[in-house]
Amino acid sequence: MPRTIRVTFLPGGEKATVPPGTILSDAAQQAGVRMSLPCGGRGICGKCVVTIRQGEVSPPTELESEQLDDQQLQQHQRLACQARALGDVVVAVPVSSRVIGVKSLESDIIAGVQLEPNVTRQWLVLTEPSLDDQRSDLQRLVDALSGDFTGLQPSPQALRALPSALRAGNFRVCATMVGRRLVDVAPAATAGPCLGAAVDIGTTTVVAYIVDLDSGEILGSSASHNPQTRHGADVISRIEFANSHEEGLAALHQEALQVVNETIAAALQQIGAEPRDVFEVTVVGNTCMHHLFLGLEPRYLAEAPYVPVASAPVNLQAGELGLDVHPCANVFCLPCIAGFVGADTVGVMTAQKITRQARPVLAIDIGTNGEVALWSGERLLVASCAAGPAFEGAQIEFGMVAAPGAIDHVHFDGAQITLTTIDDAPPRGICGSGLFDAMAVALQAGIVDPSGRFVPNADGLPPDIAARLQGEGNDRRIVLAEGDDGRHIALTQRDVRQIQLAKGAVSAAVQLLLEEAGLTVEQLDKIVIAGAFGSYINPASALRIGLFPSLPLEKVQVVGNAAGAGAILALISMAEREYACHVARLAEHVELMRKPQFQMTFMETMLFPGR
Ligand code: FES
Repeated sequence: MPRTIRVTFLPGGEKATVPPGTILSDAAQQAGVRMSLPCGGRGICGKCVVTIRQGEVSPPTELESEQLDDQQLQQHQRLACQARALGDVVVAVPVSSRVIGVKSLESDIIAGVQLEPNVTRQWLVLTEPSLDDQRSDLQRLVDALSGDFTGLQPSPQALRALPSALRAGNFRVCATMVGRRLVDVAPAATAGPCLGAAVDIGTTTVVAYIVDLDSGEILGSSASHNPQTRHGADVISRIEFANSHEEGLAALHQEALQVVNETIAAALQQIGAEPRDVFEVTVVGNTCMHHLFLGLEPRYLAEAPYVPVASAPVNLQAGELGLDVHPCANVFCLPCIAGFVGADTVGVMTAQKITRQARPVLAIDIGTNGEVALWSGERLLVASCAAGPAFEGAQIEFGMVAAPGAIDHVHFDGAQITLTTIDDAPPRGICGSGLFDAMAVALQAGIVDPSGRFVPNADGLPPDIAARLQGEGNDRRIVLAEGDDGRHIALTQRDVRQIQLAKGAVSAAVQLLLEEAGLTVEQLDKIVIAGAFGSYINPASALRIGLFPSLPLEKVQVVGNAAGAGAILALISMAEREYACHVARLAEHVELMRKPQFQMTFMETMLFPGR
């Protein structure tokens, strides 16, 4: 017998050199093939099916004969956690047996975090009842659980499902617990995946991530437009709508639930999973979105002294709330801090491990409601600013979400403008990152002066730029591209004014927080820019338009949707969830409007930096 053999995995061709007799799932791990092993390789769940394409493996075990039917065995299908390679073998691993994570900036943030979710799942082989063993079904199951589950409370639904699940599964079952609550019991062979959803409810955009709670991998994500925008682009208009219509709050609450349900469903559909497979949902959002999602009165958020109904973390059952996931799933809303500093900021600070940084760090969450957090090394200061929806493409003449055809990058080489669109599709509009670039290019090319005014004539401008200038006064514009419908997609004078308001609000918040902490911008170790579209924005453009005071570019880090990443962390790790609650308690809210220098600072920060 050879001392080592080679196991090759298809379709990727990954290889492992292992001793004869190695279990295929161990060889897969060595080869870097991430297999889904829900029952931990105990041969109970039957989910790790592979096909032996070539070579010799051990005969089927008793467990395999139970899990696989004759036809599967004849087709050389085997359980990777049971079959052993005896010589060189080639093994095909189907998509259904793999963990396929989605690579994103959010997955970089959560990489390396110890998996410790609130949801636990155990695959059990129970002894069957007899006249000598008349324990109840529940007691039989509880006795078989490993770990400390004293005081385990079964949900009524789990209790009702228990007797048939035990018998249909030949007493091989999958039990799912949320905290100390038994919420689901299913025959081992038919149990679905164990998933969680992390949701970021933005004023304009709602994002949902589906996470495999067995591996901590992000399996899919989806983004939707928040339908509440029909009642106004910002949180103040939503609150006014709730106040001025008898059923206003109920309508906004229903719309929030509906869009969260739809966004989760769309992300589940990508991976072929069911709403019932989701056992926990973590939620971040600004305080107004948090209130509307929970159906809480938002009125007092908008009236001095701007008090939330509740800022502490909230746990409740999905079924009570009306979320379309497993009815006993826990919904955990991360804590808020103040009327306008919400759980989204807590998510950003958690994802950035902000208080674990030795040196001062500033985090900016760019959204319709902008939020800024500053860790001085001793104090954690937070503030909000009404940035408006410009950076999310709303109230911008050709603004659109980051979808195929959106202009996402604009470049000026000193003579000519070039641009790219998402998926290289024909141009349809401009998304947030394109807007930052277009504004930076307009300043760089001298088309727009520091006061935000388009130059009235094209004297001295490069020919490519001069040819793109159109219109007069408030209609003045620079054409970026011709759209697929023949329209001229442009950055307009009105857009520039919207951008000034947005960037001025953010920049003023940054300056005032630095003053409050007694820090200068030079003392910052880094500035982190987060936001749902933040994954693509060019930090140089943010610097060029003066989103924050000038500092070396290498100190600027773009981190994607850090609020969403914070929700994911709270989903996969109870320690991170506790950390989120800790930073929320530690944060000091600074009310910028009360500062005498606010108006003056805002007026100054609305100006663009000179050339
Ligand atoms: S992991 Fe192989 S049967 Fe469950």
